[in-house]
This record gives sequence, structure tokens and C-alpha cells, in this order.
Amino acid sequence: MEVMQVLHMNKGDDENSYAKNSKVQSKIISLGKRINEEAIMQILCSNIPDIMGIADLGCSSGPNSLSVISEITDVIYAKCRELGRPTPELKVFLNDLPSNDFNFIFGSLPAFYDKLKKEKGSEFGPCFVSATPGSFYGRLFPSRSLHCVHSSSSLHWLSQVPAGLESNARTAMNKGKIYISKSSSLCVLEAYSLQFQKDFSSFLKSRSKEIVPGGCMLLSFMGRRSTDPTTDESCYHWELLAQALMSMVSEGLVEEEKVDSFNAPYYGPCAEETRLEIEKDGSFSVNRLETFEIDWDGGVDDVDTTSGAASRGQRVAKTIRAVVESMLESHFEKDIMDELFRRYGEMVEGYLSKTGTKYTNLVISMVRN
Ligand SMILES: C[S@@+](CC[C@H](N)C(=O)[O-])C[C@H]1O[C@@H](n2cnc3c(N)ncnc32)[C@H](O)[C@@H]1O
Repeated sequence: MEVMQVLHMNKGDDENSYAKNSKVQSKIISLGKRINEEAIMQILCSNIPDIMGIADLGCSSGPNSLSVISEITDVIYAKCRELGRPTPELKVFLNDLPSNDFNFIFGSLPAFYDKLKKEKGSEFGPCFVSATPGSFYGRLFPSRSLHCVHSSSSLHWLSQVPAGLESNARTAMNKGKIYISKSSSLCVLEAYSLQFQKDFSSFLKSRSKEIVPGGCMLLSFMGRRSTDPTTDESCYHWELLAQALMSMVSEGLVEEEKVDSFNAPYYGPCAEETRLEIEKDGSFSVNRLETFEIDWDGGVDDVDTTSGAASRGQRVAKTIRAVVESMLESHFEKDIMDELFRRYGEMVEGYLSKTGTKYTNLVISMVRN
């Protein structure tokens, strides 16, 4: 499975799209807002460039990316006003894998520019938004061209399924599971941890070349509080998806071998292993590294009746489906998806009625040395 080719959030804006099912990720962005504002204010204290490069990595196709850019521009405008300085020209780069639905996000650009002009009035400095398709695990931008890099809910995706766990491996090392599980062997845990280290270090190396000294990087992604990757907070949303698949295996609707040969290219690290990679790289100083808990449905009170997801379990299932469906479709049959996510929703509902398990999100702000 080539992650570059098969991973994309559900396109467009229909019932199962990422655009309609990304409230959890929006909530995650709002949790990091204070940390982001503080970091941007800080970098602008020392120098306000004439032209400022800003990138959102893993922008996807929903409304979240442009709302983050809007928040970043608000902070820049506020700081310039406070210092009585003209606002810089903004070059905004939206990055994602090439199969992302960039057209959908471009459709919202006229409204984004209008809002900016209306809100900023005479202060409005030019803002140029463009797309940069490619993997953030390699170089994407020219050297020292960025002042602020943001990425949310994206870096838990690995560049590939860890070595030894690929779908064409000779022996299935993680039978009946699709991610780290309590019953996974040490080899599986190590393979995932190693792949994260390799990927995160490539990410830091690339960004260290692209960000100007004094520039900031604001990251948030799924992780865990515990150093143990098999705790429920780390992996139970995958465990239930594996159980839903296995229930279909037991009824002959899915081949067991298909489940055995699928492992998600995902890893939720703990704060310690993340910090270790940043220290090993040595190009960035961490200002803040905090963990937040978030409900599996984002704790959203405005239940989305248009998508028909009435129960908590169904809402979680829709959120997960919008994210992983493209990847599952490429491995399993496309026509099992409705039934799979119906079962998954029921299992999530049952599980959440008994436990208070939440996701853990890491939020990090760092400065390029
Ligand atoms: C859950 S979405 C998050 C979107 C948005 N940042 C938000 O908070 O709503 C994760 C995005 O990361 C992208 N992604 C995953 N791996 C990537 C990579 N190596 N390079 C660029 N984008 C990647 C996916 O394609 C997906 O669009």
C-alpha cells in the first residue's frame, strides 16, 4: 500500500465528506489556539518581515485549514497594529498529498479573501494563497522561505506502513488487528515506534531547511499520555475497527487474510518520544509541549442532524470514515464500507457507554534556532 496514493480524506461536501465530518479536528485546532497565538506574537516581537511565508501542512479539503490561516492573519494584523507597523505581504501555502481535493478548498478562497478585506479594511495587505502538493516528509519549499509552519491532525500519519507489517509481508505479524493492540507482539510495537522516529526526523530535517532562523512551527497531532502504546487512549478506536472487520469475517463478508495483512500507517506518540526526536535533530527549541484530552466525537453539542448521525457512536463512525475510508477501500472491497461503519458505530456506542476513554492530542510550539 502506497500511502501517497491511497490516503486522502473523503472529497467534496457530501454526507460522508471530510468537509462535513471534521468537527473533532476543528475542536483540536481551537485547543491549540492560545499556544499558537503566543508563538506568533513572540516571533513578531523581534522582526516583522516585509513578506511573510506561512504554510499549513496536511491542509485537507474541509473548512479547517482556511480558518487556521484566518486566525494566524488575525494575530499578525493585531501585532502590527500594536507596533504601528505596516502589515507584511502574506504568502500562504496549503500543503497536502497530491490526491487531496485541493479544488474544494480553492472553492472557498473567494469568500476567504472577501472576509479578510472586509475585516481588515485599510490595513489589508496582499495575501496570496497557493497549493503545494507533496509529502511533508520531504522538502516542499525553498530554503529559508517560511516564517510560520502550522500542521494539525496530520503528523500521526506515517509515510508508510512500518517495515515487516506491509500487506505483502510473508508472514502476518499482527493477525486480526489493524494497529497496535494489547495482544500485539513487541516486534509490532517496535516497528511502529521506529517508523515514527524515522518519519518525524525527516519532517524536522526538511522544515529546518525551509524555516528562517527565529521562525515558528506549530504542530498538533494525536498522541498519548502514557509511554505504553497499548493503552486504550492510544489505540482503542483502531481496536474497535478491527473488531468490526472481524465480525464481518465471522459472517464470511470479509476474508480473514485481508484483515491480517492490513496495518494502518498511523502512530500516536507520547510527549517523551516526540521531544527526544526534536532534541536529536537539534534545529528547534521547544517553547511549549502540552497534551489535551478530547472526546471521540469532539464533545460537539450541536448535533449535525443534516448528516443523520444521531448517536454518539454514529458521529464517531462518520468522523473516522471520512478519514480512513480511502485507505480501507484500496485494501478491502468498496461495497463493505456502509456495513463496516454501521457495525463500528454500534461498537463505539457500546464502548463509550461503559468508559470515559478520550483521545490525547499533543500540541507543540517550537522556534527555529
Ligand atoms: C485529518 S486531516 C487534517 C486536515 C486539517 N489539518 C484539519 O485539521 O482539519 C490529515 C491530512 O493530512 C494529510 N497527510 C497525511 N500524510 C501526509 C504527508 N505525508 N504529507 C502531506 N499531507 C499528509 C492527509 O492527506 C490529510 O488530508
